[in-house]
Amino acid sequence: MKIIKSIKELVDLRKSFNSKKKIGFVPTMGALHQGHLSLVSKSKKQNDVTIVSIFVNPTQFSKNEDLSKYPKPIENDIKILKSFQVDILFIPSYNNIYKKDFSIWIFSDKYTNILCGKYRKNHFKGALTIVLKLFNIVNPNNAYFGKKDFQQCFLIKKMVTDLNLNIKINPVPIVREKSGLALSSRNSYLKIEQKEDASQIYKSLRSAKDDFKKNRIESPTLLINSIKKKLNNINIKIQYLEIRDSHNLSIVKKCNNKSIIFFAGFIGKTRLIDNIQLN
Ligand code: PAF
Repeated sequence: MKIIKSIKELVDLRKSFNSKKKIGFVPTMGALHQGHLSLVSKSKKQNDVTIVSIFVNPTQFSKNEDLSKYPKPIENDIKILKSFQVDILFIPSYNNIYKKDFSIWIFSDKYTNILCGKYRKNHFKGALTIVLKLFNIVNPNNAYFGKKDFQQCFLIKKMVTDLNLNIKINPVPIVREKSGLALSSRNSYLKIEQKEDASQIYKSLRSAKDDFKKNRIESPTLLINSIKKKLNNINIKIQYLEIRDSHNLSIVKKCNNKSIIFFAGFIGKTRLIDNIQLN
């Protein structure tokens, strides 16, 4: 695995590839887990060259968020990626990515102020901007993102369409622990008993999905209330619980196969998100 730290070196290497070679790209913020590795595996299967980036992007964190304590186990990440036979690992520095006087940003008027964007001001502005910068540097044919961050995936697809980028976005299913807890780098903040509480999130979403599929409950209010009732018994502070259309993120009045339940909440100080598609 080639480790590259400078943009110029990566751009030059990328240019040297035969244009017939398919390039797969997995952007990450490190602290890799099986969720990331499922993206890497998909990329390895579908491309000739797989490039992974690790960059903890400060512009997608608000001042009160966990940037300073975000896990950065870089040596372990390198070991894991080597064992997965990733071709290139790109680890740029902050100064390499954000030059002095950096001032052009990507955001969506319509979709960044809902769901996570409503509570994490500037989060998607920072995330979309870094993803576009990385796309321009790496110039991949395929890029891979986890469906746990459904809104992020949705916005990246929208950016690719609206800005005419020639990149295929491949959303990859959520990877879960046996307990149902969706894998996240932030799970490392949770104590054992908090993890047990966190596993109830998926169980409650799953049970709402069963109510929709088996018991034909189509009312978003009834489904949301049933989830809230289940989560009432544990130490969790719900930030939002909403059912929206997976194609346009609009709030649904009646659930159908395209609907998706979105959850965000806190266990202690740890913010967790999850979602489940009703189809
Ligand atoms: O999902 C993430 O890890 C980040 O938001 C991403 C896409 C790597 C951009 O920093």
